[in-house]
Amino acid sequence: MARILLGVSGGIAAYKALELVRLATRAGHSLRVIQTPTSERFVGVASFEALTGAPVLTGEFQRDPARGAFPGDAPPAHEPISHLALVGNADVFLVAPASANTLAKLAHGLANTLLTSAAVAARCPLVVAPAMNDAMWEHAATRANVATLRERGVRIVEPGVGALASRGEQGAGRLAEPAELLAACVEALPALGSSLAGLRVLVTAGGTREPIDSVRYVGNRSSGRMGFALAEQAARRGAAVTVVAANVALPRFPGVGYREVETAAELAAATEEEFARCDVLLMAAAVADFRPAAPAAGKLKKDSADAPAALALERTPDVLAGLAAARRPGQTLVGFAAEHGEGALAFARDKLARKRVDAIVVNDVSRADIGFDAADNEVTIVTAAGEAPLARAAKGEIAASILDAVVRLRAAAPADGTPGTTPADRAARV
Ligand code: CTP
Repeated sequence: MARILLGVSGGIAAYKALELVRLATRAGHSLRVIQTPTSERFVGVASFEALTGAPVLTGEFQRDPARGAFPGDAPPAHEPISHLALVGNADVFLVAPASANTLAKLAHGLANTLLTSAAVAARCPLVVAPAMNDAMWEHAATRANVATLRERGVRIVEPGVGALASRGEQGAGRLAEPAELLAACVEALPALGSSLAGLRVLVTAGGTREPIDSVRYVGNRSSGRMGFALAEQAARRGAAVTVVAANVALPRFPGVGYREVETAAELAAATEEEFARCDVLLMAAAVADFRPAAPAAGKLKKDSADAPAALALERTPDVLAGLAAARRPGQTLVGFAAEHGEGALAFARDKLARKRVDAIVVNDVSRADIGFDAADNEVTIVTAAGEAPLARAAKGEIAASILDAVVRLRAAAPADGTPGTTPADRAARV
């Protein structure tokens, strides 16, 4: 999921920016919108506010109720300066449509609207999608402005050829289609290094549900946040990522493959199928250790004779231990352990040896502020080399540190020349 800041300038094509917002939010991205005052003559702020679920700003001196935060993020305690906060929090800044006027201002670094001052303050990638009449698009000044922006590393989404705003006119200058705009944003997202480029990463996430009957199940409190954060971070570092997702109600990250499962048996089957071709397994799912031994096919009625007084449970196979037993050289396996209170590290060390994995990431679920369904986590990474405690941080940051540890583990692994370990092998398989 990316944070996309959308700048809308004045032009008929502003209506297409609404469609872009719909597409992007549906794909799981969160958006904030800045409009130029002129754009309000074409599309009102209410439409963008409804679609993004966030306030739209049109001027620097307007109060931002969200204090620069994107939907889903907590606003800061202070009131930040809008043009700095919005670009500071954005992963990518898209200006669509960019009128000839806004394009010229962007090329020359003018900062006389909130949109243009935000662009001057942007350290994140800038994507500009011009839209104007063909005569304006072909004008030498516009050509020079586009060239200047390109030289500066700005990504230009070329306008298309076709019907223009004024009746009966055809030519180059229509805003690119919303899907193309979204694709340009995703491509521009900063790759957080390429430390996992060429690797296949398999992540399990969420919590399994084991049926009691056709409507009830035995489940657990895992939301899938940690696993999804790992998948997103791994994809951003260039890995080819597959997630086996057990009952996760979170947005999917573009470019990551997802396999949806419900039970421990389904998770085991999907993970076993994917395991042989993965280089790194991050087993973040909370897999049920027990399941009802004889689930009813229909719904159990509370007053019927077969209403159970007790639930007979049976053990589920340990998926991670099973996979570790079948691992090939060159694979890195990371298990996760949710432990309650004291003794967590000793349990984790025991699991490291028992499950024969390279690392166990352990957290203390007795604390309400971290762990299950919380935005933050605080974990210790236990490896054969020792214990690395990570300070409390957002799950995205924790995920990044876990991936750093994976890179270190792989670098320290003996160079045995087995398949999957050399860069050439990796490149051949992507
Ligand atoms: N795990 C698994 N299959 C299971 C249970 C757990 O693959 N049936 C994986 C989890 O995904 C996690 C790791 O094993 O990565 C640790 O899970 P946990 O349940 O904490 O470990 P257990 O060995 O079951 O220990 P205990 O229940 O005694 O804490």
